[in-house]
Amino acid sequence: MVRVLFVCLGNICRSPTAEGVFRSLIQQAKLEDRIEVDSAGTHAYHLGDPPDPRAQAAAARRGIDLGGLRGRQTTLRDFHYFDYVIAMDRENYSHLLSRCPPELQYKVRLFMEFAPDYGHEDVPDPYYGGTTGFDRVLDMIEDAAAGLLREIHGYKHPAQGGGR
Ligand code: 4NP
Repeated sequence: MVRVLFVCLGNICRSPTAEGVFRSLIQQAKLEDRIEVDSAGTHAYHLGDPPDPRAQAAAARRGIDLGGLRGRQTTLRDFHYFDYVIAMDRENYSHLLSRCPPELQYKVRLFMEFAPDYGHEDVPDPYYGGTTGFDRVLDMIEDAAAGLLREIHGYKHPAQGGGR
């Protein structure tokens, strides 16, 4: 089992979107019993909250249901339990490294590393922007999620030659 945790600031916009998108890819690739996925926030502003309605709407337009997800904060246990602890931006990344035991820091990665063609290190925080922000974020997340699955399982996105 490979365990993946996506982390943003509030766990109501970017990381639940990444969780939903990645879970959908895992299901399409029939890897549900091989890869586990979760998300969390570095901060506790939205504990127990469902994803932001704008994030839910943007995901729903692409057939992904985020409605059942609830906000939680990262814990020390996450660094032990998960194999990949993936930060949505450099701020989340620094925050995670400041709390991660040194011997586990290799697990902490920056999500956009898996979609290098964008030339961006950060998935931008859409919380204070408009709806376009969420669609742009979804594009980035879909591509980085496909890149991550390729690293984990040699998976190829249909747009990059299909199948496995
Ligand atoms: P997220 O977006 O980190 O992608 O979930 C945010 C959500 C809430 C806040 C900031 C960012 N906030 O400050 O409450």
